[in-house]
Amino acid sequence: MDYKLVKSCRICGSKRLKKYLDLGNQPLPNNLITPYFPDHSKYPLQVLFCESCSLSHLSIVVNPKLMFSNYFYHSSVSKTFMKHCYELGKKIKKIVKSHIKKQDLLVIDIASNDGCLLEQFKRLGYYVIGVEPAKNLAEECKKKNISVVNEFWSDETAKRLPACDVITATNVLAHVDDISGFLKICANKLRIYTKGILVVEVPYLFNLLNKNQFDTIYHEHLSYFLFKPLKIAFEKQGLNIFKVEQPNIHGGSLRIYASPYSYPKHKSVKGIERFEKLNKLHDFLTYSKFSGNVNKVRNELVTFLKSLRSYNKKVLAYGASAKGISLLNFCEIDNSMIRYIIDDTYEKQYKQIPGSRIQIVPRNYIEREKPDYILLLAWNFMKEIVSKVKFNGKWIIPIPKVVVK
Ligand code: TMP
Repeated sequence: MDYKLVKSCRICGSKRLKKYLDLGNQPLPNNLITPYFPDHSKYPLQVLFCESCSLSHLSIVVNPKLMFSNYFYHSSVSKTFMKHCYELGKKIKKIVKSHIKKQDLLVIDIASNDGCLLEQFKRLGYYVIGVEPAKNLAEECKKKNISVVNEFWSDETAKRLPACDVITATNVLAHVDDISGFLKICANKLRIYTKGILVVEVPYLFNLLNKNQFDTIYHEHLSYFLFKPLKIAFEKQGLNIFKVEQPNIHGGSLRIYASPYSYPKHKSVKGIERFEKLNKLHDFLTYSKFSGNVNKVRNELVTFLKSLRSYNKKVLAYGASAKGISLLNFCEIDNSMIRYIIDDTYEKQYKQIPGSRIQIVPRNYIEREKPDYILLLAWNFMKEIVSKVKFNGKWIIPIPKVVVK
């Protein structure tokens, strides 16, 4: 079986799961089509709300080996993300400096991707080790002289690694089915020094709902987090959350600092709890309203692209991100509406996206094709991309609502 059904909440175990969004049957967005990987099976993409702890999750879990063994996503393509990693490294140093009286801090980064975060941490003087299941990405880390183990985060892997002061897990928890198991291994590893800290970053569900980021829903993202369910999950493993931030990355994220040690609690912890209540984020009605907004964006975007097609306008897209692929497939936008997708990631170029089968090409295709419009699928890097990509046409920004400029 390629996937299993979710029957109870992966955080609190409740069976009171209520569906609020159905994005149809979709292919796995990061499995780009190559002559060696022509398959693009489709799987249902539906989101459920846990009426007990407010976790949102997909109704199925696709076998992770189908999604993560070879991964085309490279964090380092984005300068914005590199800067974000450097800033995070500086923040962590400030927090641990007064509590862990050591100079030689060791960081383990789970799902280290191409070493983007660890490279920045190295610049700041940390000792670093990456854990990365994708073979191609682990190789990239090695090329940057970053020690890496090419494995999923597991008890055995953690036991083989040296004791560390900091564990970072950015943009990985949403991919994890057994969240309790994942956090338990982190807690055990950190307990060796007791004051060690875990820093987790996840896209924040508030932004998904508020900014209509439905395209960030795809099969790799099993969960969509609020603070409330995360707190339950962390506390179950004896991890005390002592600070919460909302960094402006990937459309708006939630960053949690936790430790087996009782660090003084920052006021942001109470603040986020108040914020969620105030915004009715634990209320199912909020979710059914969101579902209506999603269909509105789809209708507007498809109507606009069809009208451009009828006027023979040339339209490209920018950023073959998983979310872009999810949006194109949900809206059933194919290569009759979008000629090519530009992406600066070398490994993605000249492959096709699954489902809608549009070809990914390098940036010089903009000069070659002279498009009238470019649909910005990587809207989260709008500033960076729009400032460097010049052409004589208009941008179409699909999220949070369709804007042409
Ligand atoms: P992400 O939103 O999942 O990080 O994906 C962004 C995609 O956009 C990824 O495939 C890389 C691509 N990209 C470019 O091609 N050029 C750029 O300048 C940036 C920032 C991203």
